Amino acid sequence: MMKPKYATLFEAYTLPNGMEMKNRMIMAPMTNYSSNQDGSVTEDEINYYTRRSKGVGAVITAVANITPGGKGFPGQIGCDRDELIPSLSKLAKSIKGQGAKAILQIFHAGRMSLPDEVPNRDVTAPSNIPAEREGTLGEVPRELTVEEIEGIIDAFGQATRRAIEAGFDGVEIHGANGYLIQQFFSPHANRREDQYGGNLEKRMTFPLAVIDKVQHTVKEYAKAPFIVGYRFSPEEPETPGITMGDTLHLVDVLADKGLDYLHVSLLDFWSKARREADTSKTRVELLLETINKRIPLVGVGSLYKADDAAEAKKTGIEFLGLGRELLIDPEWVQKIAKGNEAEINTTLDLNGKEKLDFPDSFWKVITSIPGWVPGVK
Ligand SMILES: Cc1cc2nc3c(=O)[nH]c(=O)nc-3n(C[C@H](O)[C@H](O)[C@H](O)COP(=O)(O)O)c2cc1C
Repeated sequence: MMKPKYATLFEAYTLPNGMEMKNRMIMAPMTNYSSNQDGSVTEDEINYYTRRSKGVGAVITAVANITPGGKGFPGQIGCDRDELIPSLSKLAKSIKGQGAKAILQIFHAGRMSLPDEVPNRDVTAPSNIPAEREGTLGEVPRELTVEEIEGIIDAFGQATRRAIEAGFDGVEIHGANGYLIQQFFSPHANRREDQYGGNLEKRMTFPLAVIDKVQHTVKEYAKAPFIVGYRFSPEEPETPGITMGDTLHLVDVLADKGLDYLHVSLLDFWSKARREADTSKTRVELLLETINKRIPLVGVGSLYKADDAAEAKKTGIEFLGLGRELLIDPEWVQKIAKGNEAEINTTLDLNGKEKLDFPDSFWKVITSIPGWVPGVK
């Protein structure tokens, strides 16, 4: 029997578009390096998703690239061509068949693309400024032309149409983690002086145009309610860089855009604002204040135990994302539902690859980076 203190995690919720989510837990998007070279999903990947779709209300997939030039990593899911619709359809079915809503995360990696993954090693971005990140440091991207930017906006629409035709329940626009949409909003990555760059308002032009295109596509093609979510990262450490103040302004605008949810990308749910906001408050608190219940928010980040999730839910946030928790323990949600939350695993079983239905290449990546997933040394 479920303990009463966890009941709030299992309440149904009706999204702005009228679709009902059966509970408040969502599988966070996680790149799994396991798709075929052509972007089609593998059987191992399907098994991995089937296993993890049985408890949560929705699954947000690993991010899929919307154009060949927007691919970020090897083994990425592709949604850049109509030939991939059958593959996307298999993926959607593997999730929906277990009772969870299936949401495809879509992006263009911009200056974060690995050169080997994009045609002609042509890594592109709002401006020719490299990311100050390990692994990509020093890779100077080529500045996109206005025509190319318009093509990418259009490609977000095409990718959304493919998600609809493949039977997904929604898409999540990936405006977080340093990829192209965030790059346009960032004063670090975006030094443009045309309509796509400049002050804060102008740096919102591209993200808002992508949202408009996706929503327009939904109106045109979806025959049933279709979820459109937007994920963002609250702050960048670089100077110049996105501040909490910038993000609260963006979120204030996004809350009135007719989206179905916003999703803040965090590694620690309880992290505090770094600058240009009340630094004594958590980012989640500040976001909830700004949004003021206009639209649901998904929070995420190191909620390894049932009590961590129950505590996070008390902030008033509508949904909680579970990433590494579901890598480590695919039955995380079901254990709480049955009153067996004490049996939740919080460190990865290093002999558990088969038992936990991990694709080979994903297993290799996560077990080679110490500390990324708890239990990996
Ligand atoms: C292996 C791995 C891959 C990830 N890939 C993505 C991704 O494709 N898109 C995304 O928005 N976030 C990605 N993330 C971030 C997660 O969605 C999440 O925000 C983060 O892991 C913190 O949540 P957690 O503590 O529940 O894992 C990834 C995280 C991990 C561990």
